[in-house]
Amino acid sequence: MLRALLLLGGLAPALPAGPHWAYEGPHGQQHWPEGHPACGGRAQSPIDIQTRGVRVDPSLPPVRPVGYQHPDTPTFTLGNNGHTAVLVLPPSLRVRGLPRPFAAAQLHLHWGRAGGGRGAEHLVDGHRAPAEVHVVHFDAERFANASQAQHHAGGLAVLGVLLEVGADPHPAYDNILSHLGSIRYAGQTTTIPSFSVQDLLPPRLDLYYRYNGSLTTPPCFQGVLWTLFQQPVRISLSQLEQLQGSLYATEEAEPEPQPLVDNFRGPQELNQRLVLSSFPRGPKGYLTGEIVAIVFGTGSGCLCLFLAAHFVAKRMRARRAQQQDVVFKASSRRPPADDGPRP
Ligand SMILES: *[C@@H]1O[C@H](CO)[C@@H](O)[C@H](O)[C@H]1NC(C)=O
Ligand SMILES: *[C@@H]1O[C@H](CO)[C@@H](O)[C@H](O)[C@H]1NC(C)=O
Ligand SMILES: [Zn+2]
Repeated sequence: MLRALLLLGGLAPALPAGPHWAYEGPHGQQHWPEGHPACGGRAQSPIDIQTRGVRVDPSLPPVRPVGYQHPDTPTFTLGNNGHTAVLVLPPSLRVRGLPRPFAAAQLHLHWGRAGGGRGAEHLVDGHRAPAEVHVVHFDAERFANASQAQHHAGGLAVLGVLLEVGADPHPAYDNILSHLGSIRYAGQTTTIPSFSVQDLLPPRLDLYYRYNGSLTTPPCFQGVLWTLFQQPVRISLSQLEQLQGSLYATEEAEPEPQPLVDNFRGPQELNQRLVLSSFPRGPKGYLTGEIVAIVFGTGSGCLCLFLAAHFVAKRMRARRAQQQDVVFKASSRRPPADDGPRP
C-alpha cells in the first residue's frame, strides 16, 4: 500500500517517515523485514489465491458501501507519495457488510509498466491482473484515524479491485487518471472534484474472497481484513498506459527521475491462513463469471460468441471429468459428512 498511511491525516510531508524502501534494489522487498520486522511475519499480503483451496462461506454478506456515491465533500486530495497515487477519502464514506462498520481513509493503486502489463498484487490461480485498486478503511468505532488503527489487529479493512483491460475506457477511472499529470513527482498533491467512488468498484459486491493479511508495503502491519472482489473492473489500454506512464517515484528536484512503475509486492506465503469466498465455486458459478468476463471484455461480437461457445464446451468436459473424479474419490473414502459445498 503506502508509506503514506501518513497521507491519511494530512498530505503535507508526503515523504520519508521511517527507513527508505523500494520494490527493487538494495532497499527492495527482500530487505523490507530488516527495517520493518512485520514484513517478515506469517500473515502477510498479498497472496496468490488458489481457488481450489478457498472455503466457501455462504454466510458472508454483500459488501455495502454507504455514502460512496455522493461524497459529502466537493473535492478530494490526490497525491503522489513516491510509491503510488493516493486519493484521500472522507470518513463519511462507510462500508457495511464487514464484521464491523468501517470508515474510508484513502484509496491507491498498484500497477506494472508499459508493455509488460502485469501489476496487480493479488494473484488468482497464479494470474496477475494489470493493476489493482485498494480502498483502505479503518474501524471508526475504535480508532480516530487509520494511522492509529493500523497498529491494531482488525483496525484496517481493505477492499481490493483487480483491473483488467477491456475495449472501452471506464469513465469513473478518468476522475483519477486525468489528474495524474498534476502529481507527476513524489510529494506533489492536487485537488480534484469529488465523484462517486462506488463507480470504481465492480457491479457485484456480493462476490469476493476474504482473508486476514497485512499492509502490502512497509511497515506491513498485520491484522488487516482483506476483501478482494471476484469481478475485475475493465479499463481501456490507454487508461492503463496513463497509469503506468504518468508518475515518477522521485521528487521534482531529483537530477535522475525514476519512473513510478512496478509498484507491486510479490505473493506471500499463506501459511496456516484460511481464504474464504462468499460465492460457490461450483462449475456453474465459475462458468457464469467467466462468460460475463469474456462477453464484456472483448467487446467484439464474433470473437466473443466463439470464445463463449468454446468455453462452455471446455467447461462441460471439465465438469464431466470432475464428476467422474468425485465419484471415484467418494467410492474410495468413508461416507463424507455433510460439510457443505467443496471449494
Ligand atoms: C490520529 O489519531 C491520533 C489519536 O487521536 C492522533 O494523535 C494523531 O495525530 C492522528 N493522526 C493523524 C495523522 O491525524
Ligand atoms: C480473521 O481474524 C479474526 C480475528 O482473529 C477471526 O475472527 C476471523 O475468523 C479471521 N478471518 C478469516 C477469514 O480467517
Ligand atoms: Zn495497496
